[in-house]
Amino acid sequence: QIVFVLNGPNLNLLGTREPDIYGSDTLDDIAGRLDDLARPLGLTVDLRQSNHEGHLIDWLHEAQAREARGVILNAGALTHTSIGLHDAIKAVRTPVVEVHLSNPHTREAFRHRSYVGMACKGTIAGLGALGYELALQAISRW
Ligand code: DQA
Repeated sequence: QIVFVLNGPNLNLLGTREPDIYGSDTLDDIAGRLDDLARPLGLTVDLRQSNHEGHLIDWLHEAQAREARGVILNAGALTHTSIGLHDAIKAVRTPVVEVHLSNPHTREAFRHRSYVGMACKGTIAGLGALGYELALQAISRW
């Protein structure tokens, strides 16, 4: 069964983007570790990134259509602004786990509200790239 790992704006720059906040792992590094973790669990990871809100919404719909086991979603800054993503998560039956590398609650006030998190089954934040692996482990047990 498939697990979608969807990444929003600016996460293509992971590795060089504010590494003191987001760490030095690239999205490819994360994808490699998720593949290794998924294989023995009998899961396949499909990791994608887009800087465009509509792509993320389309991929959430696709996750449901393809009967994905779950979605790991780091929506980047869209987390704090996108009612469209909130509605898409609510609209699909596929369980979605919100992941953030940093802990938005310890940062600027504009990061404290998560429209994405309000619609998700659970949230992992502040644990760096490990958060993606923990989310995959949770999904594998559903
Ligand atoms: C982020 C946190 C967001 O506030 C920020 O806009 C990002 C990355 C994280 O993973 O810590 O782009 O989602």
